[in-house]
Parts: sequence; C-alpha cells; structure tokens
Amino acid sequence: MRPAYEPYLQEVLIDEIRLQARVAELGAEITRDYKDTGHLMLICILKGGVMFLTDLMRHINIPHEIDFLAVSAYGRGARASTGDVRIVMDLSEQVSGKHLLIVEDIIDSGHTLKFVMDMLAARDPASVKLCTLLDKPSRRTIDIPIDYIGFAIEDKFVFGYGLDLDEKFRNLPFVGVVKPGVVLNE
Ligand code: IMP
Ligand code: MG
Repeated sequence: MRPAYEPYLQEVLIDEIRLQARVAELGAEITRDYKDTGHLMLICILKGGVMFLTDLMRHINIPHEIDFLAVSAYGRGARASTGDVRIVMDLSEQVSGKHLLIVEDIIDSGHTLKFVMDMLAARDPASVKLCTLLDKPSRRTIDIPIDYIGFAIEDKFVFGYGLDLDEKFRNLPFVGVVKPGVVLNE
C-alpha cells in the first residue's frame, strides 16, 4: 500500500537519521549549558513541538520539568502569520524563578515566538531561552534571538516530525517539502 502522504510529498528534506543525530547534539549542548543551573523547565509549543520535545528530552541529562503551551497564530490552516496570536491552552505550572527553555517546531515570521517570549518574561522567570527544530530566516519580520537551532531551511512549506499538513501527517519521522500545487485548507 502506498503511504497516504505520498501525493503531497515533493521531497524528504531532512531524513530520520539526520534529525535524530541533530536532536541528540542539541540535547547534549543543552545539558552542558544548564549543568550548573541545577534545574530547567522545557516549555513545548503545541502542537508542532511535541515530537521534537519527546525526542529532545531523552538527550537532556539534567533533571527537568516539562509543560505545554498551545497558541494559535494563524487561525486553523492558514499559511501566513498575521501577528494575531492567541493563547489556546496556558501552562499548568508556575514559571516564576525558573529557567525556561521554549521548544518549538519552526520559526517563520517570528510573531508567535515574540508573543510567547513576552508573555513568559512578564511572569518573572529566572531566564527564558529558545530552541527551535527548524528556522526559516528569510521569512522573519520580527527579530528574535534564537539560542538553539536544529536546521536553518529555505522558504518552503514543510510537514512531518510534528509539523502538520492540514492537521495531518505530524507522525512522519522525517521533515518533507510539500509538493507545489497542493492546496492547503486555509
Ligand atoms: P510564525 O509566527 O510566523 O513564526 O509562525 C510559526 C508557526 O507557523 C509555527 O509554529 C508553525 O505552526 C507554523 N508554520 C510556519 N511554517 C510552517 C511550515 O513550513 N509547515 C508547517 N507549519 C508552519
Ligand atoms: Mg508551531
């Protein structure tokens, strides 16, 4: 049986081997950087960050908490950020005095992360850093500092490894480029 994603896939951009190797490197780097801090809270941005979070945390060898934040940047399915970001589901834990590391799937315009970083900074944490699996630097309209980047990619719409195509295919173990002409539900 042909896998259901095949009609939408132009090419595999980052295969499972490269993804897993880079996630392990990031985990090791984070472990080194936070060794003296003693504690860490990973804040996963739902839904796209979830696969990255669960792989990354296996490579972070210091005690840490996790929490989840769901934000909606675009309205469902839309492709271009308007800058209108809303909280869909807030954190369940207090973050005051904690060292926070945001775990995100992809940074595009930067609007979503600017909103999240400002919101968290207002809650009086000890520090806030940002880790993204993918970065599309050519699309940035707001300058935000990124502390850890898995891969910088060109301006192509991608899916898999947490990222969706109309809410589907988040489970793919690789990051793929959407075929030109595929109409997204937006
Ligand atoms: P920003 O606010 O423009 O930086 O948007 C970031 C969000 O847009 C990410 O968290 C993703 O949910 C979504 N996004 C941006 N580019 C892509 C893509 O190529 N594939 C899937 N989702 C994307
Ligand atoms: Mg996202």
